[in-house]
Amino acid sequence: MQLTSRLAALAEVQADWLVVGIWEEEPLGGAVLDLDRALEGALTRLRERGDITGKANELVPLLDRRGSAAERVLALGLGKRAKLDRAGLWAAAAAAAKFITSKARPRLAFALPENVPGVDPAAVAYLAGAGLQFGSEGPGLRKGKPDRFAPAEICLVAAPSATAADLQQGARRAEVEGRAVSLARELVNLPPCDLYPESFAVRAQLIAQAAKLECIVLDETQLEAERMGSLLAVARGSDRPPRLVMLRWRGGKDGKTLGLVGKGVTFDSGGLSLKTTEQMVDMKCDMAGAAAVLGAMSAIAELNLPVNVAGIMALVENLPSGKAMKLGDVLHARNGKTIEVLNTDAEGRLILADALAYAVDQKVDHLVDLATLTGACMVALGTEVAGLMSNTDAWSERVLKAAQNAGERAWPLPMFSFYGDMIKSDIADMKNTGGSRYAGAISAAKLLEEFVGEVPWAHLDIAGPAWAEKENSVRTSGGTGCFVRTLVELARTYA
Ligand code: BES
Ligand code: MN
Ligand code: ZN
Repeated sequence: MQLTSRLAALAEVQADWLVVGIWEEEPLGGAVLDLDRALEGALTRLRERGDITGKANELVPLLDRRGSAAERVLALGLGKRAKLDRAGLWAAAAAAAKFITSKARPRLAFALPENVPGVDPAAVAYLAGAGLQFGSEGPGLRKGKPDRFAPAEICLVAAPSATAADLQQGARRAEVEGRAVSLARELVNLPPCDLYPESFAVRAQLIAQAAKLECIVLDETQLEAERMGSLLAVARGSDRPPRLVMLRWRGGKDGKTLGLVGKGVTFDSGGLSLKTTEQMVDMKCDMAGAAAVLGAMSAIAELNLPVNVAGIMALVENLPSGKAMKLGDVLHARNGKTIEVLNTDAEGRLILADALAYAVDQKVDHLVDLATLTGACMVALGTEVAGLMSNTDAWSERVLKAAQNAGERAWPLPMFSFYGDMIKSDIADMKNTGGSRYAGAISAAKLLEEFVGEVPWAHLDIAGPAWAEKENSVRTSGGTGCFVRTLVELARTYA
């Protein structure tokens, strides 16, 4: 798919579909009003009749439009101007693209809304472009008889008075990051028979080669040599050996290094603390953190960002077997600390413990980890919002700001030191569960905190937003590619 941009009057845009945003409770204005005149007042009439209200994500197709060079016009509700945030703009564009791609209509044009409060024109182009690309993707594209049809070209259109440089910059970001999000979604959607630690690592190597990223892959022997006893204990239950992948982008000469760490459990059965079928059915999604890191690293390289970033993916399968770790086992992690295993289904923190300690040893200056870590985080925040836990307020703020700029939703959870009591063990330095149903997302984060030393660190629990159980107007079900764009934005502002 090609993402292009141009400055033009809307009536002159040639396309199979032209999408125009309509504000709620506000008369038509600017470029949209000019288009309405060319359409002999069609939008105004539909508005007066109440067919077009402009409510958020409302879709009103005008299928036969003389007066415009586009074959069809889609009126897209943007809601009230004062209420539209970045996530809302991204979602509106995605909803329009999802609607359009139900039929094969190769040329899609999108009129960028003017004067979005608090969002500069380059960011409007970026969010719209990324949303359109997201909405054009879905598993139906890969069926024998496709039921989705990605457009060949998406063109972002701004009024002739707009600045071409803003538009091009936003479109470029959208194109690269949209591709990175698609990659993460694809990896999450791949069946666990095809995506396992070794095949994930091979895929990462191929992407690294294409993007000119340094790539190191540690196999089980090397992981042993690196003393990653906690990660290896999780992996031992599976016949598939673990891998740890580190990608490095050195765009920042001698500046600081940002470390990104992703949980990559390619399938989480729970291990001996076996999940039920219902709990297990979507557990191929348990590598979404690693997928986000890989997607983000590829985009950071492609955008040639002037920063140093190390992206680390901890890749294992969590299965029960004669070799599986047992309840009561005590594991020796890389940093010398010991962990008592009281539930083998709390495996994410065990692999991240070693991966975070490894990242610290790489001398990163700041850390972010992403993990589908706890059901408890979904209980706390629902399925659309990631939990953010950190050891440093200032760093937490920066990560939150990056998420906000990218139009993604994260929310802080507290990390008071007394929460650390929840993971105290009688026989080891800590235990791998909080021991009660309460504050499960935080007790998991408290364990991770033991492995980051003094490095400012933020943990994103993406168990909710990484996977969409049901389709909605904005997206198909399955992997969402969440937080890829947040990571790229963080890298962009890290320099
Ligand atoms: N991968 C799961 C968390 C998860 C749950 C992700 C639902 C996505 C959707 C994780 O490994 C897990 O099993 N966590 C346990 C921890 C518990 C045993 C302390 C959980 O949340 O139940
Ligand atoms: Mn688990
Ligand atoms: Zn898991």
